Amino acid sequence: MTEPERFIRVHHAGPLRGEVLVPGAKNSVLKLMAASLLADGTFEITNVPGIVDVGIMAELLRAIGAEVIETPDYGVVTITNSGGLTPVAPFELVQKIRASINVLGPLLTRCGEVTIAMPGGDDFGTRPIDMHIAGLEAMGATFEFDGGTVMARADRLHGAEITFDFPSVGATENILTAAVLANGQTIIHNAAREPEIIDLCEFLNEMGAQVRGAGTSTLRIDGVEPGALHGCEHETVPDRIQAATYIAACAVTGGELDLLNAQSKHMEMVLSRFRDMGLEIESLPYGLRVAAPERLRSTDVATLPYPGIATDYKPLIITMLAVADGVGVVTENLYPGRFAYVEELQRLGADIKTDGHHALIRGVDRLIGAPVLSHDIRAGAAMVVAGLAAEGTTTITGVHHIDRGYDDLVGRLKRVGAEIERIGC
Ligand code: EPZ
Repeated sequence: MTEPERFIRVHHAGPLRGEVLVPGAKNSVLKLMAASLLADGTFEITNVPGIVDVGIMAELLRAIGAEVIETPDYGVVTITNSGGLTPVAPFELVQKIRASINVLGPLLTRCGEVTIAMPGGDDFGTRPIDMHIAGLEAMGATFEFDGGTVMARADRLHGAEITFDFPSVGATENILTAAVLANGQTIIHNAAREPEIIDLCEFLNEMGAQVRGAGTSTLRIDGVEPGALHGCEHETVPDRIQAATYIAACAVTGGELDLLNAQSKHMEMVLSRFRDMGLEIESLPYGLRVAAPERLRSTDVATLPYPGIATDYKPLIITMLAVADGVGVVTENLYPGRFAYVEELQRLGADIKTDGHHALIRGVDRLIGAPVLSHDIRAGAAMVVAGLAAEGTTTITGVHHIDRGYDDLVGRLKRVGAEIERIGC
């Protein structure tokens, strides 16, 4: 069979050992970059992961009129705004990443209008923005829709009391940033509580905003005048999903790893489930130490908004359960359609049955290497983990998905003993 042009090749190797430095979080840094549009000044964001999505967000901000300098070798992005923004987010950029929708709140509240295409990103079926729109309408915005483009207007947004049906991450972020310059106080009930939301709240307060309640389900934002905001410096929170990816890689190879910079306080639920599977996990002042058992034990998992187990961990967990001892049931409560990668794991010999938003995983003694496809960012990383567990050689295509959210996954795994390489990419 001819090998594809661009792919990752993984050979089964022994236990992984050593240290992995966990990079900054994609799902925080992209929102920090978008929030910088709220004010003139210079913003220096550090601990920025070397991922494709950062480059796309930088391009989007430049198209809107910001000056963006990326210094990937130092993990720094410097954004300078000096007025004259064009509140139009071009389709060709917006359709590449979901986080592009995060320019909606800052541009609407700062410029009084914004034109943006419906966002793209990972395909989990429908990903509506109705809660974003309803929240901004409650603050006085009006919306027009034309062929997949959203046009929003508001002379000046006013404070409002908003209760979400569901603690949406994106809707919380857009209402939060819009409220920073609104007239009066905004209260968000049933707000998202993810560590990345806390990171955004801290960034906003560092630039002069007045946000209270970060990390709780009630956020209070007292609107300020544009002149009260200014540039700032901010270190991005570590990426808990990337940290979990290295834990999964350690788990399926029977290894022992130190994860530098990983923060156990951001991962309590999933770490407790990993302990149920037999992993020894120790919090260290500078990160986490993980040691894997001879064989993982099965367990059941349900995905939930934070502090529950994030849906982004799920492809990794299902891959671990595929080689665990016993039967596990995994329930997806956020994106019912997020099981596309299961057929790839079945190609490696996994025994998994899905039914609606449930998956039943009967652990097998061994997986066998084969060609598999990355369906999205997290599914792609799970294929790499599966390749580390599988006998023989696994080749993974769709590498561009992985590069969107992982900073040198192959290099970091290689440095702790994985037999892995990128071919043609
Ligand atoms: C963020 O997506 C993350 N993306 C996702 O990570 C993550 O899976 C998700 O939060 C949940 O944790 C980014 O931060 C860029 P939501 P987001 O709004 O903001 C429904 C990754 O791999 N909903 O919390 O889009 C929605 O359909 C990505 O890094 C509405 O119905 O998530 C979904 O079922 C994948 N209407 C649920 O809520 C709305 O207006 C959660 O969505 C908004 C959301």
